Amino acid sequence: MKFEDKLKNTAKVMLASGKGLLAADESSNTIAKRFEAVGLENTEENRRTYRQFLLSAPGNEAFLSGVILFDETIRQKNDNGTPLADVLKQKGIIPGIKVDAGAKDLALHEGEKVTEGLDGLRERFSEYAKMGAGFAKWRAVITIERDTLPSSACYSANADGLARYAALAQEAGIVPVVEPEVLLDGDHSIERCYEVTAKTLDTLFAALKNQDVMIEGVVLKSSMVLPGKDCKDRATVQTVAEQTLKCLKEHVPANLAGVVFLSGGQTEEEATAHLDAMNKLGGAPWPLTFSYSRAIQNPVLKLWAAGEKEKALAAYLHRCQANSLAAHGKWSENFEANHLY
Ligand code: 13P
Repeated sequence: MKFEDKLKNTAKVMLASGKGLLAADESSNTIAKRFEAVGLENTEENRRTYRQFLLSAPGNEAFLSGVILFDETIRQKNDNGTPLADVLKQKGIIPGIKVDAGAKDLALHEGEKVTEGLDGLRERFSEYAKMGAGFAKWRAVITIERDTLPSSACYSANADGLARYAALAQEAGIVPVVEPEVLLDGDHSIERCYEVTAKTLDTLFAALKNQDVMIEGVVLKSSMVLPGKDCKDRATVQTVAEQTLKCLKEHVPANLAGVVFLSGGQTEEEATAHLDAMNKLGGAPWPLTFSYSRAIQNPVLKLWAAGEKEKALAAYLHRCQANSLAAHGKWSENFEANHLY
């Protein structure tokens, strides 16, 4: 198959109607925090068994087209000795891999970050492709500080990193998920978030074009347009959906393969309601779906850590189904009344 067709086909499967991605790619530091919060010891075996549970849960394949894995996980096996990536493939779920090395302090720019991980990335991509990864993820973070941040250095350094990563991914036949996350931290208004998201997207798509990345074989993982978490003026679900959709339509090329959202600290129900409202509005040129970590896993991990394995499974499938309905614009609050956990 031609290289371009392979990328387009993988992206199409990732964005299949009513399906989305599970982000299970928490780095060593992040998973340590999540486990600590529920009183779980952060051992390699606990990480393996918890993630084995997420990946092999019967029925998750109805709602998930892909799962983003951390390097440690793609090298692990289930209890029967099957590589965890193969466990996903056997269910028709595409294994994805987080390849960035994290956000580090941006030199000369206090309070800002740039994502590292380009060194040796070509070789790592060829290894991940052999292990079965169909797509990859690279996350950049953009911090808003009222009127002062982000700096133009932050926009451009992060966009360049994302574009160089995306080019290397496509070269290896792997679909790049480009994730420029505009952080929720701070007391900025929704209007300020709109402005920063717009500029982030403009800078990113210009950088991708510069590197000759094939846009039809790229998935954008976006934050939503929201007021900062300490902003007194809260926004309705409808406003968040309208502003996010407007911003994306104006600043994302129509030939992009699709958009998946991160939850970024929203509650489970907020993340679902926002996605649902966007799909109810409709009119986007690309599929809009989910790529949540916390908004799916938070209730699940808590129950799993407490030894409530059946309830953890029910909670997991419930959140996956809620987000699948939202990807169709067919979720309602009534669905949440039917909790089985
Ligand atoms: P959250 O949904 O918890 O924001 O995580 C998504 C993710 O992959 C961040 O990189």
